[in-house]
Amino acid sequence: MTPSLSDTETAATSIQNAHHIVLLIGAGISTAAGIPDFRSDKTGLYARLAPLNLPFPEAIFHINYFRHTPEPFYAIAKARHPRNLKPTLSHAFLGLLAKKDRVHFLFTQNIDGLEEDAFVPPGKMLAAHGNWKTQRCWKCKAAYPDGLMKRAIAEGEVPYCQEEGCDGPVKPDVVFFGESLPEVFEEKEKLVDEADLMIVVGTSLKVAPCSRLPRAVREGVPRILINQEKVGDFGSRVGDVCLLGSCDESARALAGALGWGDELESLWGEAVAAKESMEGDFENETSIDECIRRLAQENQGKMISDGHKKMLETHLESKFARLSTAASKGNI
Ligand code: OAD
Repeated sequence: MTPSLSDTETAATSIQNAHHIVLLIGAGISTAAGIPDFRSDKTGLYARLAPLNLPFPEAIFHINYFRHTPEPFYAIAKARHPRNLKPTLSHAFLGLLAKKDRVHFLFTQNIDGLEEDAFVPPGKMLAAHGNWKTQRCWKCKAAYPDGLMKRAIAEGEVPYCQEEGCDGPVKPDVVFFGESLPEVFEEKEKLVDEADLMIVVGTSLKVAPCSRLPRAVREGVPRILINQEKVGDFGSRVGDVCLLGSCDESARALAGALGWGDELESLWGEAVAAKESMEGDFENETSIDECIRRLAQENQGKMISDGHKKMLETHLESKFARLSTAASKGNI
């Protein structure tokens, strides 16, 4: 599907007129870099996890599952880690918007860091679901050395805490389901109110609290969706424009309509070259399907079903606990 010329031109005019753009980014922007998104039929990570018979696909990123059964997360960690992945043309479009001082703030749900690799200044963005840069023990929160973490990811082994008397699994500082977003999220969320344009790229808008950001934009402020499919309440407001199809194609068309085509290609080239010049963390690429197949074969479902049972127990425990305490704020 290719967005119509008039939609592209309407979107380009909104960008031309805007100086306080708020952006929300999701996994769809990184699929062209080689990281599958989560929820696309067949190609998304959650569909590919079927051989593992998880209690539900998101369990792999749920803290109540990870604390007992971290093996599935580490089996696929190598294939999901940003390593030496290159930013896409769409990431470069974000960098170009920032270079032209149009970006008020960017929220990304992605943990791959490719926005920064495409020159979006760190002060202008929040990785709302964390990143892979640091890690700590899930249980005692002690920091864990980078070198050991890299080795564990490369080998697909679970790293365990080294503190005396602690045996908790180590977790990168990414936000799992059941955990809180960084505290600063609530403060940055207020910036949505100052937006003169909202752009949403590559997200199904299925996960709160980020999913609420597009709805928080003031009435009358234009909103642009750049995605394979229509999501959220896009299309319900008069100023909405939906550029459906590949985000890279839409970004290229938008840059063309804005007269920024050459600048976009050259910024993209620069971002890719900068990443290429960095040493990759891992060698011997293993596909995500291969990682999943190996784990399924090695354990023949046993470890996974133990994890399932423990998760149900934890769920029941926390359900009882919730009867006496208010549900915590800001969890995903
Ligand atoms: P999803 O996988 O839910 O949605 C990705 C969206 O991008 C879908 O609507 C796809 O159609 C679209 N898409 C895929 N490739 C595209 C392309 N090349 N061009 C345009 N659109 C494309 O991913 P998110 O919405 O980012 O959280 O998921 C949100 C959160 O759920 C993630 O941060 C993660 C996940 O579980 C945690 O793990 C805590």
